[in-house]
Amino acid sequence: MVRYELIAPCHFGLEAVLKKEIIDLGYEITEVENGRVSFEGDAEAICRANIFLRTAERVLLKVGGFQALTFDELFERTREIPWENYLPKDAKCWVKKASSINSKLFSPSDIQRIMKKAVVRRMQAEYDLEQMPETGSEYPLRVFFYKDQVTVAIDTSGDSLHKRGYRQLTSKAPITETLAAALIMLTPWKKDRILVDPFCGSGTFPIEAAMIAAGIAPGLNRSFLSEDWKNLIPRKCWYDAIDEASEMVDDTVEVDIQGYDIDGEVIKAARENAKRAGVDHLIHFQQRPIAELSHPKKYGFIISNPPYGERLEEKKDLPALYRQIGERYKALDSWSMYLITAYEDAERDIGRKADKNRKIYNGMMKTYYYQFMGPRPPKRKTGDTVEA
Ligand SMILES: C[S@@+](CC[C@H](N)C(=O)[O-])C[C@H]1O[C@@H](n2cnc3c(N)ncnc32)[C@H](O)[C@@H]1O
Repeated sequence: MVRYELIAPCHFGLEAVLKKEIIDLGYEITEVENGRVSFEGDAEAICRANIFLRTAERVLLKVGGFQALTFDELFERTREIPWENYLPKDAKCWVKKASSINSKLFSPSDIQRIMKKAVVRRMQAEYDLEQMPETGSEYPLRVFFYKDQVTVAIDTSGDSLHKRGYRQLTSKAPITETLAAALIMLTPWKKDRILVDPFCGSGTFPIEAAMIAAGIAPGLNRSFLSEDWKNLIPRKCWYDAIDEASEMVDDTVEVDIQGYDIDGEVIKAARENAKRAGVDHLIHFQQRPIAELSHPKKYGFIISNPPYGERLEEKKDLPALYRQIGERYKALDSWSMYLITAYEDAERDIGRKADKNRKIYNGMMKTYYYQFMGPRPPKRKTGDTVEA
C-alpha cells in the first residue's frame, strides 16, 4: 500500500501523550512539533488512527511541504503538488483552514484563493477539464505557514475527533473529550483503580475513563470524511479497523468510576451522555456537593476540572471552594488528585503545593494541571495491585 506522512494535531502541551498513542498503535513517528505529531502510515493507518486515537484532534494526510515567500511562489509550489494522485476528477477541494505564524504570507483569504486556483489549474491540465465539476467527495485542505515553510494537508477526519458522538448534552464549561482523555492518560490511573470526578459536569472524565477501561475506541460510533475517498482508501480498510475495534471491547470489565456534581440537571445530562457512549453501567453518577466527598477505600484518584471562575459572579466563591477541595482531599487516605483549572490561586487555597504542575492550553485559555501524588498501592505477591 502507498505510504503517506500523516499529521495528527493535538492540544498544546500534550504531544507526548499522543506520540505514545501513535507508537502503541504501531506507527513510526517522523516529527513532533508544538501541537502536532507526524507519523508514517498507509490507507489502513488513516482508518485506524481516526478510530483509535483518543488524544488527536484530527488526522491529516500531508501532500506537500515547501517554502513560499510570495504569492507567486505559493501558486507555483501548490500547482507542482501531484493533486491527481489524491483527488478524483470530480473532487471538491478547497482550503478549509489556513494558519500562519512568523511568515510573510498571512492573509487567510488570499492564501485560500491562490491555493484553490493552483489546485484547479493542475487538475484541469491533468484531467483535461475545462472546469472542475466538484460534484464528488470532499477533500478539504488544512495549510500551516511557519517561518515561511508551508505544510499542505488534506483533512481525513471531517468533524474534529473530540466529537465522539456521545456528548449531546453539555454543562456550562465542558472540557473537550480529547483533552480529558489525555489528562487521564497522563496519570498512572488504570482500570483496577478508583476514579472520582467530584465536579463531573456532563461526565467527560468518567465517560472517557470508562471507555478506556472497556477498550471502547473513541471513533467506533462516528463517521469520518475519508470514508468517501474510494480512490485512496479501500472499504476493506475501514471494515478491518472497525472489526479490530469491536473485538477489543469488553464492557463487562469491573471498574469503580464515579461522577458527582452539585447540579442535579447536569448529572442527568451526564447519565444520558454515558448511555450514548455505552458506559452508563460502568459509572455511578450522583448529585453531591464537594463538601460531602468521601470514600472508604484507599489509593483512589480524583481527576477533575473544578469551577475556575468562568462567570464573574463565581470568582468570589473560588477561595472557599478550593479550601473545601483541600479539606476533602486531606480526609481521603492515600489518594492522588489531578486538577485542571485556570484558577491561579488553587494551590494556596487547597493548602498544599502540587507535586507536579503542567501548563496546558485549553484553546486560548492558559490552565494548570496540578498533580498531587498519593503513594502507590502495595504489590501483591502475584505482582497484581491490591485495593485496600
Ligand atoms: C468546569 S465544570 C466541569 C465540566 C466537566 N468536566 C465537563 O466536561 O462537563 C465545573 C462543574 O462543577 C460543578 N460545581 C460547582 N460547584 C460545586 C460544588 N460545590 N460541588 C460539586 N460540584 C460543583 C458545576 O455544576 C459544574 O458542572
